[in-house]
Amino acid sequence: MIIAIDGPAAAGKGTLAKRLATHFDLAFLDTGRLYRAVGYGILQAGGDPNDPKIAVAAARALDPANVDTGDLYTEKVAEAASVVAAIGDVRKELLSFQRNFAHNPPGGKIGAVLDGRDIASVVCPDATHKLFVTASAEVRAKRRFKELQENGVESTYAAVLADIEQRDQRDRTRKVSPLKAVDAHVIDTSGKTPDAVFQEALDLIEGDRST
Ligand code: CDP
Repeated sequence: MIIAIDGPAAAGKGTLAKRLATHFDLAFLDTGRLYRAVGYGILQAGGDPNDPKIAVAAARALDPANVDTGDLYTEKVAEAASVVAAIGDVRKELLSFQRNFAHNPPGGKIGAVLDGRDIASVVCPDATHKLFVTASAEVRAKRRFKELQENGVESTYAAVLADIEQRDQRDRTRKVSPLKAVDAHVIDTSGKTPDAVFQEALDLIEGDRST
């Protein structure tokens, strides 16, 4: 069982993915973490994420199975992640790890949930279930702003909204693996609780199974 969850920044993909993984006892991979780790590594070394040579070298140097150092969840790192994610050779470097995780999930699990931007379109076109999770930019910016505040990160709502809109634009218009809903069930999480979104996803998955 492979569940692909795609969608724009702060739409609620991670929350849903974790709940589905627990419910079905599947392995979970947040693929955004891989791109964030590449961006983070470059920023730490004082490099420019826009430089394809630097970005590809950083992706090649990354051990995707061991990405847990550093503070990956800042808007600066998110921005660097989306810059390196637009470079085709960076994506190629990270592809086989993601595919292998989906098809040979760790811990003896019977399947996996992957969340990202191109899971249904590129990483796992053969996924058993495909969900596209979205929400208005304003709702997403409010959620991200709240998260940042809770983590003690200084920011303003206006800055977070601007960052999210810029990142959406880059993710949707890039030539390689742009963000888009590919034969997926669309879930709009605006104004819905995590419980309601989870229930909607379960119903859609059950629906897939009965067809
Ligand atoms: O958590 P949030 O939704 O803000 O972002 P993320 O999922 O951690 O992803 C950070 C950035 O990595 C995105 O803006 C994308 O540019 C890129 N990404 C991607 O291109 N493909 C993926 N499968 C996952 C992330």
